[in-house]
Amino acid sequence: MASVETMTASSPASATSASIPPLTSLDPRAPVGIFDSGLGGLSVLRAVRSQLPDEALIYVADSLYAPYGERDDDFIADRTLAIGEWLVAQGAKALVVACNTATAQSIALVREKLPIQLIGVEPGVKPAALQSKSRVAGVLATRVTLRSARFQGLLERYASDCRFLCQPGHGLVEAVERCDIGSPELRALIESYLQPMLDAGADTLVLGCTHYPFLDAAIRDIAGDRLTLIDTSVAIARQLERVLDQQGLRSPARDAVPQPRFCSTSDGAHLKQLAATLLDIDAPVERVHIPSRRTITPDSHAA
Ligand code: DGL
Repeated sequence: MASVETMTASSPASATSASIPPLTSLDPRAPVGIFDSGLGGLSVLRAVRSQLPDEALIYVADSLYAPYGERDDDFIADRTLAIGEWLVAQGAKALVVACNTATAQSIALVREKLPIQLIGVEPGVKPAALQSKSRVAGVLATRVTLRSARFQGLLERYASDCRFLCQPGHGLVEAVERCDIGSPELRALIESYLQPMLDAGADTLVLGCTHYPFLDAAIRDIAGDRLTLIDTSVAIARQLERVLDQQGLRSPARDAVPQPRFCSTSDGAHLKQLAATLLDIDAPVERVHIPSRRTITPDSHAA
């Protein structure tokens, strides 16, 4: 029996891919699309650039509609599909859904509709179960991810002899979206999520949202070396590498590492700031309009 608890403090991971037949018409020099509800996918982009430096990348932050973790399922599927189609139209040869919430909720549906390979992300429950010595592990993820059938399936598969304490990270995505990765208020919020895990004997923490690796310094300040952090971004980059190799779509070596093309559905100022300060990438951000069924009415904009 899996031992799972949902925590209610005051209030690597696995990468997945489809088996679409090889698409011989795609150009290996075409870009890889990477998408997230906002800035969190930059943690995945960082790993992809390090693993696959010759790949051209287009990054889309759907910041106008973040956080997805507070949205309904249909909205998330609608945005994921619209952005996937937009990236295909931009010439993307593969798509990394660098968002646990969008993967958990909508990747199966979107996969059926796009003509390119999709690589999704999911919380690193398996590596946590393998690594935890105390057999107690915490999971921080969005509410949508934690309640998804995909996540529940992960727990059933890998949590047989490990206790998982699942905590929705309310407020954390919003903080990273405004480039707050260490204010006193944010630290207090993180502590309110981690202290019950530490009190319960957790020695491992799954960062089940791609925004959370940017909070690692704050988490380490609070937990010291008592928690081993599980971040799945390197595993995702390796999975992308395998998929591109299988499809014969690896980019040939280039003379210089190409700058990513950054796109945002919002004004992009925070994307530019986070990319510069945390990834050392100084690149312009294009504001893009990506309409979708659920966002054509004025009242659908981010609250
Ligand atoms: N980075 C997204 C994830 O991995 C955040 C989702 C949200 O916008 O709430 O789940």
